[in-house]
Amino acid sequence: MQTPFPFETIAPKEFFYGREKELSELKTHISNSTNVLLFSKRRMGKSTLIKNLFNEIEKDYVVIYIDIYNIITAEDFGSLLLNGITKSQKGDIKSIMLKLSQFFKKTKVEPTFDPQTGEMGIRAITKSLSFDELIEDSFNALFKIAETKNVVLAIDEFQQIADIKDVKIDAILRKYMQEAKNISYIFLGSKRNILNSLFAYKAPLYAMAIPISLKPLDIEDIYNYAKKYINITKETIEYIYELSAGETKLIQMILHRIYINKNEVEYINEIFVDKILQTILISKNDHYKALFEVFSTNQKKAFKLLAKYSKELFSEKILREENISRPSMQSSLNQLFSKEYIDKEDGVYFIPDRAFELWARKNL
Ligand SMILES: Nc1ncnc2c1ncn2[C@@H]1O[C@H](COP(=O)(O)OP(=O)(O)OP(=O)(O)O)[C@@H](O)[C@H]1O
Ligand SMILES: [Mg+2]
Repeated sequence: MQTPFPFETIAPKEFFYGREKELSELKTHISNSTNVLLFSKRRMGKSTLIKNLFNEIEKDYVVIYIDIYNIITAEDFGSLLLNGITKSQKGDIKSIMLKLSQFFKKTKVEPTFDPQTGEMGIRAITKSLSFDELIEDSFNALFKIAETKNVVLAIDEFQQIADIKDVKIDAILRKYMQEAKNISYIFLGSKRNILNSLFAYKAPLYAMAIPISLKPLDIEDIYNYAKKYINITKETIEYIYELSAGETKLIQMILHRIYINKNEVEYINEIFVDKILQTILISKNDHYKALFEVFSTNQKKAFKLLAKYSKELFSEKILREENISRPSMQSSLNQLFSKEYIDKEDGVYFIPDRAFELWARKNL
């Protein structure tokens, strides 16, 4: 059931709220053709922010969005980029095809038809092309497009390029980025340590983008939006925010369920919110149980203690509680970190999926 609180799909314009400061900051950077690295913990709202930014600016800019989450090879990256550029062209199919065929040296394009929407589109045929050909055609086209209109190119889940070992995509990007005028690159990602190393001193992308860390939504913004649809107090919104540790997705999930069940109660209080949260955790039980079951015994202990205590994990008292040694605790945390079940900020471990953490506290 769709409600004004989407939590699994990108919030469309009518259900998108807050983020005014971030939008205006991004617009300033874009108008100066500055590049941006937009990062945050997972599920904070990066993709949603950029998609809604693009809705707002697409009259004035050519906007290109690619999500590279699934790339396995460098060619996958090239192909996504080329198709992103192809799709960014608006207008009648015939003239776009003609234009693109002039921009591309090697790539052929073909019309597509979506039987569900009845819409015509264009697709680049990238199968037999090498990475170099894909990239050359992509940037050739980009530079041509940027001659008539400023371009914004967003690459979501950018940390994935670190998994491509045989081609130095970052070095290649740097080369083209330095040549480009009137193009703003926005890199989005959530794995801080990988992103840090991609943009670190002496790395190819060093100083190539201004970092912006996306914080949780403002409580005031959540309240002002939510009260339009549900009868809720600011204090209860604050309570939801704390329960969710500021994670946008979990806040949205809770508000979504409150909205659906709002007729069950006279007014929405903390007890009702707790009940809603329990139903969310129950609905995720199988998923989290399955994740937890593949942990080794020591990893289970470490995860449980982290969920329960968050800090001082190496104190005698806490270690004794689960009968785990200090070295085992350290290596289990390292393993969980490398598998991304846990994250680290300023040397302190935490569980980035807040619902998983709450589930662990309740069930382990
Ligand atoms: N400003 C907003 N207004 C309304 N809903 C939002 C907003 N920001 C995020 N959301 C909702 O929260 C959910 C998570 O947001 P989103 O997927 O954009 O986060 P993300 O930071 O890109 O996450 P990930 O790191 O997992 O890719 C989405 O379903 C989205 O609809
Ligand atoms: Mg995202």
